[in-house]
Amino acid sequence: MKISGNINETRTIVKEWKQQGLKVGLVPTMGYLHEGHLSLIRRAKAENDRVVVSIFVNPMQFGPTEDLASYPRDLDRDAGLCENEGVDLIFHPEPSEMYESDFCSYVDMSGLTEELCGKSRPVHFRGVQTVVSKLFHIIPADHAYFGQKDAQQLAIIKRMVRDLNFDIEIVGCPIVREEDGLAKSSRNTYLNKEERQAALILSKSLKAAKELTENGEKDAEKIISCIRNIIHTEPLARTDYIEVVDFDTIKPVKTIKGTTLIAIAVYIGKTRLIDNIITA
Ligand code: PAF
Repeated sequence: MKISGNINETRTIVKEWKQQGLKVGLVPTMGYLHEGHLSLIRRAKAENDRVVVSIFVNPMQFGPTEDLASYPRDLDRDAGLCENEGVDLIFHPEPSEMYESDFCSYVDMSGLTEELCGKSRPVHFRGVQTVVSKLFHIIPADHAYFGQKDAQQLAIIKRMVRDLNFDIEIVGCPIVREEDGLAKSSRNTYLNKEERQAALILSKSLKAAKELTENGEKDAEKIISCIRNIIHTEPLARTDYIEVVDFDTIKPVKTIKGTTLIAIAVYIGKTRLIDNIITA
């Protein structure tokens, strides 16, 4: 497995693979890999001849008061995990390699980015779209793999690829959870023991919402109240949002029909966690 921090070298390696007719899968990450990432890597391995994992904590997608400085980083550990999974190449650039000092070109979108996380993280999705576009240019893969835990990000990237005609297929992969239900996330490392226990309220509330929908409830307001009431029972939890939206447009819906996303963002102490379920 090779690790490269250089854009030209990475592009040359991937282009050579493509010239040999090999299928390439890309797993974009910010590192500190967990089972959720490994599930993306395994899917990429199963569906491609070569797999590239990008590890880059992208400064552009963090707001000024967010956790860029404290975001967990451990390249040696990540490299060991990637090697075990049979990854062929890690792309791990420095911020200066990705963003020249006079960088001023951005990829943005209206609508989908303004809902859910976009309300409290106004610069986040512009940063995500910009870096993901750059990664798609640097690593001309056939498939790119994203987790459904960041469901809004997945919907935005799918739309960006469609709107801007990127020649890549986006593959959404299911959320991976701890045994007790907590969705895997690099940010779970911020939680102390008490907060870790309190964080179970997210998956617990969504499980109740899922049962409600499975029993035929279609009214978004009733589903939202069910989730809200459960989250309120946890003193360490503070709700950012609870929303029921169409998965393609990310617009709120009053009634569940088609593919609907039930998404929540909840602060546990200072840590903001997101989770969701998608109803088919
Ligand atoms: O989901 C993430 O880890 C990041 O938002 C991504 C897609 C790697 C872009 O920095």
